Amino acid sequence: MDLKGYNVVITGGSGGIGSALVSGLVATGAAVHNLDIQGAAKPEATFYKTDLTSETSIKEALSTIEKIDALIVCAGVQLVGQDSKIGDVSLETWQKTVDVNMTGAFLSVKHAIPGLIKSGRGSVILIGSPTGMTMEGAGYTAYGASKAGMMGLSRIIAVDYKEEGIRANVVVPGTMSTPLIQKIWDDPEKGPDLIRRTPLGRMGKPSDLVGLVNWLVSEQSSFATGAWYAVDGGMTAR
Ligand SMILES: NC(=O)c1ccc[n+]([C@@H]2O[C@H](COP(=O)([O-])OP(=O)(O)OC[C@H]3O[C@@H](n4cnc5c(N)ncnc54)[C@H](O)[C@@H]3O)[C@@H](O)[C@H]2O)c1
Repeated sequence: MDLKGYNVVITGGSGGIGSALVSGLVATGAAVHNLDIQGAAKPEATFYKTDLTSETSIKEALSTIEKIDALIVCAGVQLVGQDSKIGDVSLETWQKTVDVNMTGAFLSVKHAIPGLIKSGRGSVILIGSPTGMTMEGAGYTAYGASKAGMMGLSRIIAVDYKEEGIRANVVVPGTMSTPLIQKIWDDPEKGPDLIRRTPLGRMGKPSDLVGLVNWLVSEQSSFATGAWYAVDGGMTAR
């Protein structure tokens, strides 16, 4: 895939999945801009230290990027050990989760809209989760609800900005070994249980998402909008 001339903004590009997506995009020749609260894992992307829960911080980062051909919303938190059944979730845990995952998605897309319109081929890619669309969310009230909200957002954007040439889609990763859910992998029961619930019987690698994400960035996917695509070893089809 040749994405030379594409300006791609990614949030959470320093994380486990995000850094694989950054590498995959850089390999196509795209210029990549990483908005993350923690240091750039991939020096080949331009790094903007950004707190996605702060509108000022997002506006400041995006103000220097005029044309945006694609925005990938990949940053996220899952407060394993604090998120739980609804009766046991504190308001603080709920708010922290929703602030990063949902409000962060809202603010990132909102302030990328002028750049996406300028591009004329803007593609919004939200990273969803099986927890936002199936009963895999059980025990993760705040995380699952925030992911369902992000996924709903994509369909609304797809319709509201179709005249401006903006498409919006969701990529649903299956279970992957990244810092996000390290506590689950470390748990002698929960880790193996995640594998049992994955029909292919193994965890995925962040690089498994690269081909799909690059395609969604490109104009090859110009008829794809308002949809979700799972790369999850069959978890959501079970
Ligand atoms: N790992 C999995 O199994 C899995 C499965 C399904 C979906 N996902 C989703 O994939 C995405 C990436 O997850 P990951 O596994 O790479 O997690 P990760 O923890 O490795 O990376 C998350 C990134 O988000 C950044 N971030 C968190 N809060 C931020 C804030 N306030 N401002 C700016 N950046 C912030 C972190 O610094 C980090 O770089 C998330 O949206 C997650 O929900 C992950």
